[in-house]
Amino acid sequence: MTRANSRIVGVGRYLPEHVVTNQDLTRVMDTTDEWIQQRTGIRERRYIAEDTGAADLGVVAAREALDRAGLRADQMDLVLFATLSPDYDFPASACVLSRLFGLKRTPAFDVKNQCSGFLYGLAIADKFIKTGRARHVLLVGGEIHSTGIDLTTRGRDVAVIFGDGAAAAVLTAEPDAKRGVLSTHLHSEGRYAEKLWLEAAASRSRPRLSQEMLEGAKPRIFPHMEGKYVFKHALTRFPEVILEALSANGFSVKDLDLLIPHQANLRISQMVAMGLELREEQMFNNIDRYGNTTACSIPLALYEAIEQGRVEAGALICLAAFGAGFTWAAALMRW
Ligand code: ACO
Repeated sequence: MTRANSRIVGVGRYLPEHVVTNQDLTRVMDTTDEWIQQRTGIRERRYIAEDTGAADLGVVAAREALDRAGLRADQMDLVLFATLSPDYDFPASACVLSRLFGLKRTPAFDVKNQCSGFLYGLAIADKFIKTGRARHVLLVGGEIHSTGIDLTTRGRDVAVIFGDGAAAAVLTAEPDAKRGVLSTHLHSEGRYAEKLWLEAAASRSRPRLSQEMLEGAKPRIFPHMEGKYVFKHALTRFPEVILEALSANGFSVKDLDLLIPHQANLRISQMVAMGLELREEQMFNNIDRYGNTTACSIPLALYEAIEQGRVEAGALICLAAFGAGFTWAAALMRW
């Protein structure tokens, strides 16, 4: 294969039908619609029905992305699944998804990098295509948070933020070097690993799961977050990596047609936009309807931006993420 750029040629999504409003959450924990909206901008999120796995959501999103790309699953040279909530601890949800497509030999693996997972996956897909190792790549971001959060007053600071969903992108080789993914930028700083984390069940504990982990004021089987700490770092890292991506390609903020940030918290996105002096039409947000869907949030926002006619051919699009790890990342694309 000749050297090429990579380009997103199809995007799809799947959202569980069950809508959970802030008002619904007030029935299971001590919270208010006003508190949640003021601090996060979230009005509602989706939760799955029982007995559904991340790959079940992902396959629906992937089918739509493949349809829109005019390609079949068996034409993919690589399947990537970005998720922090895989179907099983192992094997990878990418393999479970491949089975749902009936794939027999296609390489498949998960990218477990939380809110930056989709952009880390995009960087991998881009490199496979740019080095000629793949022509078509399926990249899915899918999460089921609702079965793993503490839906009581004890866990309210984290629980109200997250929602379920999946979205997918098909990338293909693009001969025009000025089109498609122009560059990707990945970073991490592991010293903050425990600022936003899920401790158990994991290999550091013996046994991996015990009664003690399930109990107490802060059960270790639920994610924990130092919210203010995460907020502060996100406000530094988002603009930093966005400017890095723009300047690596000789652009500045005024050249940007649309910034699609990971939908972590509306206040974070608004403060980033203010700091970068972005005009309102340069930023896309949909966290109000889905909450934070982690690895799904960027492709889900991209899907809706396309639906709303906000991504035109030739547009300069920046995707950016920050999350647990800490990790942060950006990708610049010419649509
Ligand atoms: N409803 C009502 N009250 C609540 C809730 C809730 N859901 N959650 C916490 N509170 C209470 C707290 O107990 C506290 O009460 P106290 O003052 O009596 O102790 C009060 O509200 C204030 O709590 P803080 O934690 O100080 O509130 P803060 O203003 O920091 O907002 C929030 C919390 C929304 C989590 C904020 O810190 C935040 O958004 N941080 C960033 C989190 C984020 O974006 N994470 C995702 C990015 S990474 C990723 O996506 C994996």
